[in-house]
Amino acid sequence: MKSFKTEQEAFWAGEFGNEYTERNQGLEITANKTALFARILSKTTNIKSTLEFGANRGLNLLAIRNLFPDMYLSAVEINEQAVTELKKIVELSIYQQSLFEFSIDYQRDLVLSKGVLIHINPDKLKQTYELLYQSSSRYICLVEYYNPVPVEVIYRGHKNKLFKRDFAGEMMDEYKDLRLVDYGFVYHRDNNFPQDDLTWFLLEK
Ligand SMILES: C[S@@+](CC[C@H](N)C(=O)[O-])C[C@H]1O[C@@H](n2cnc3c(N)ncnc32)[C@H](O)[C@@H]1O
Repeated sequence: MKSFKTEQEAFWAGEFGNEYTERNQGLEITANKTALFARILSKTTNIKSTLEFGANRGLNLLAIRNLFPDMYLSAVEINEQAVTELKKIVELSIYQQSLFEFSIDYQRDLVLSKGVLIHINPDKLKQTYELLYQSSSRYICLVEYYNPVPVEVIYRGHKNKLFKRDFAGEMMDEYKDLRLVDYGFVYHRDNNFPQDDLTWFLLEK
């Protein structure tokens, strides 16, 4: 098996990532994501290209395509089984690698991380923020778990795999030209379009 720099990458590339990919699919999930992105992306103008880091089987990208049928879509994904599913999506550029290995070919209008920064080794966050920042020409969208101070939470019985913090705030501290466009929360008991108590932040360069 391929060796990775962090235990978190090996975790997602392996069996846990396969099971996640198998578990997380279906029309309802995509519908809920479409509702979320309709809310977030209504705050943007003129986006033509989107790059998602940690895209899994591509349901966020499909949701975005529901809203913007002509959007040029790209996905970076470490898990091979997820990439097999991504390959079923037409007109999608796929980068099968760890995001730490991704080299920026061109900047996209929108760069997205949803449920990915929370799983990155905290020692690698600075590098990941730099990647998000440099790969975007304009918007950065973070949809993660917020906590005002960094905390670790046991994730489905696994230690050292889930971290909550103020990712967007840390990025704005680091990159002074980033502006907060909007932010929000999606409750797991939302009447129509629940998500897993996510907080989202839309930043603009
Ligand atoms: C919790 S899932 C979220 C999937 C998707 N973004 C969503 O919102 O449905 C995390 C995804 O990020 C991928 N991932 C985790 N670490 C990664 C890394 N270092 N490079 C690329 N992909 C990674 C995992 O394989 C998995 O598909």
